[in-house]
Parts: sequence; C-alpha cells; structure tokens
Amino acid sequence: MFILVAYATCHGSTRSIAERIGATLAGEGHRVEVRSVSDVDHVWQYHAVVAGSAIHDGDWLPSGAEFLHRHAGMLAERPLWLFSVGMAPAARGRRGRWFAAHAGIPRAVAVDADYIQPRDLHAFAGVLEPAHIPVRVRPFMWMIGGRFGDFRNWADVDAWAEGIADKLEAE
Ligand SMILES: Cc1cc2nc3c(=O)[nH]c(=O)nc-3n(C[C@H](O)[C@H](O)[C@H](O)COP(=O)(O)O)c2cc1C
Repeated sequence: MFILVAYATCHGSTRSIAERIGATLAGEGHRVEVRSVSDVDHVWQYHAVVAGSAIHDGDWLPSGAEFLHRHAGMLAERPLWLFSVGMAPAARGRRGRWFAAHAGIPRAVAVDADYIQPRDLHAFAGVLEPAHIPVRVRPFMWMIGGRFGDFRNWADVDAWAEGIADKLEAE
C-alpha cells in the first residue's frame, strides 16, 4: 500500500516519531512518504494516512489542525490513524496523572468528528527543553506535573506502527 505519514512539529520530536513510524511501515513492505503537513497538497493518491501533531496548549498545532480540516473529506474515505505528541503521557505525580487523564481529544480532531474517524488516536510522550518554554509559563508546567527531558518511548512508537501494519495486512 501507499501510505502517507504526515506531521506537524514545532521543535522536531513529532517529525522524529513520524519518521520512525514511516520506517516501520516501510519495513513491512509498504511504500511510504513521510512529509510535513505543509508539504502535502493532496491525499487522494494514498491508500492510508497516518497523521500526527505536537500538542501546544491542549491542541494540535494550527498547521496540523488545518491539514485535518482541509483534507477531511478525503481522510474520511481511507484508513486513518492519528497521533499526538506531548508531555501529558510523561507527566508524573497525582496532578500529572490527572492532567494526562483529562488531556482528552484535541479540538483539531473533535471539530470534524463527523468525517474524521481515526482507527486510533494515540498520545506519545515527546521532548521538552527549557528553551522551549517561556520562564513565566514554567510554574504552570510544574503545577501540572510537567518536566523537562526527552520522554520519547521508541518501543511504544514501534508497537503502534506495527499494529497499523497488522491491521492493513488483515484488510
Ligand atoms: C509552548 C508549548 C506548549 C505546550 N503545551 C502542551 C500541552 O498543552 N500539553 C502537552 O501534553 N504538551 C505540551 N507541550 C509539550 C510539547 O507538546 C512536547 O514538547 C512535544 O514533544 C513537542 O513536539 P515537537 O518537538 O514536534 O514540537 C507544549 C510545548 C510548548 C513548547
């Protein structure tokens, strides 16, 4: 199958996860294109689409949201998997667990729910460096159990991508 893995990133961790997903799918024999959402003009040529965005302030980045909205009609007609990359899955402590449990479905995905019905919407832990966050926002980040570091979990990413390959093969 010809599969698009599209990503919206601010600091690169979502791209790295998209590339890893793409490599796994290619390793399973699929033809894969991994592209930034802003480099995708059409999706009609793909048999399946995997799309993901970094989470900022509880939602997908505007470019990711715009991708979903612009292609909603075509995405509705093909197998679709979505992923978010944020700190909620890496948050710790009681407040962190509350934050993760209440992160919910990003508005970018929910807004077109009549059309966009992904096979799965997975939240991956990402990367957060001090330079990414203005000093004035840091107390809020600590309040919700957030922390700095690289929390990408490659085993989680690989397992998710292999699950996609299995489902496509079964179909
Ligand atoms: C300004 C800003 C706001 C963020 N807001 C959230 C948030 O609301 N929820 C969350 O889980 N992570 C949040 N994060 C963490 C990022 O989603 C995380 O660092 C992610 O790995 C960034 O992906 P990227 O490297 O592809 O840009 C935020 C990061 C920044 C810089």
